[in-house]
Amino acid sequence: MSIEKVGVLGCGLMGSGIAQVCAQAGLKTMVKEIDQKFIDKGFGVINKNLQRAADKGKITGEKKDEILSNLKGTLEFEDLKDCDLIIEAVPELLDVKNGMYSTLAGICPEKTIFASNTSSLTVVAMAAATGRPDRLCGMHFFNPVPMMRLVEVVKTIATSQETIDSCFEFCRKIGKSPILAKDRSGFIVNRLLIPYMLDAITVLEEGLASTEDIDKGIMLGLNHPMGPLTLADFVGLDTFIEVCDIMFNEFHEKRFSAPPLLKKMVLAGYYGRKSGKGFYDYSGEKPVPTDLGI
Ligand SMILES: NC(=O)c1ccc[n+]([C@@H]2O[C@H](COP(=O)([O-])OP(=O)(O)OC[C@H]3O[C@@H](n4cnc5c(N)ncnc54)[C@H](O)[C@@H]3O)[C@@H](O)[C@H]2O)c1
Repeated sequence: MSIEKVGVLGCGLMGSGIAQVCAQAGLKTMVKEIDQKFIDKGFGVINKNLQRAADKGKITGEKKDEILSNLKGTLEFEDLKDCDLIIEAVPELLDVKNGMYSTLAGICPEKTIFASNTSSLTVVAMAAATGRPDRLCGMHFFNPVPMMRLVEVVKTIATSQETIDSCFEFCRKIGKSPILAKDRSGFIVNRLLIPYMLDAITVLEEGLASTEDIDKGIMLGLNHPMGPLTLADFVGLDTFIEVCDIMFNEFHEKRFSAPPLLKKMVLAGYYGRKSGKGFYDYSGEKPVPTDLGI
């Protein structure tokens, strides 16, 4: 099935990026949120990204307007009824995701494919709520979506090959490189990445090295574009701890358990970039390591 009209659930960090790349690929994109203020915020980020591209001469002013005209925001599920594909990027809470799928199951036609951007839940846990297990898969994008080329397409035991083929074609259409992953918590990339990031926090907590030296070590020693603590701030420590907890519950392995320092930071409201403070403090001109009392 060729995908022409896309629905996106959630216009946060990931949903706004997903909406942007769909609109850039010329697809009509409807974004559903719970409050107009979140649509305004997400569309504001998209506008800024496109303006930056226009300023650098990567796109023309007309192209920017054309991309923005492909985007619409809504607070009503009904407005998603004629979408070929709905990509869900709401918080990492199974009940919230399933509540939305149940509502949409009664609104969208049989042909509509549902895809979850979950980082850590098993996708099949959403199958019953969708009422179409063969047309549900995972579509795991990476942050920041406009820049990162990878999408993990996740096949559950019930996903049809036709759904996977349509999603691979869609990913290529929006300029991404899809890879196939099985439906096990964390898929491929987070299965490897999460223990590494948690280890970096433990190294900091044990006083083995400073925040800056941990990040510098990985950047200069392994040629990563950013260190693990900067990356954690970028992901959002609230989202990160949810992912760790889900993976720990799935595998019961210590390497997925959140260290006390991470728990304390989330309790203190240190969510990273989005709250202005995490492993670094973003209130000044450039980020400086936060004093975490270590
Ligand atoms: N942050 C990352 O780096 C990252 C990377 C890959 C995947 N993910 C996954 O993407 C999903 C979203 O994460 P995020 O970082 O964008 O979160 P976020 O908190 O930035 O955005 C979530 C958005 O969903 C909205 N929302 C909540 N309930 C809703 C509802 N019922 N209807 C419509 N919108 C609703 C919220 O208002 C919010 O704007 C999660 O499943 C997360 O695990 C996150």
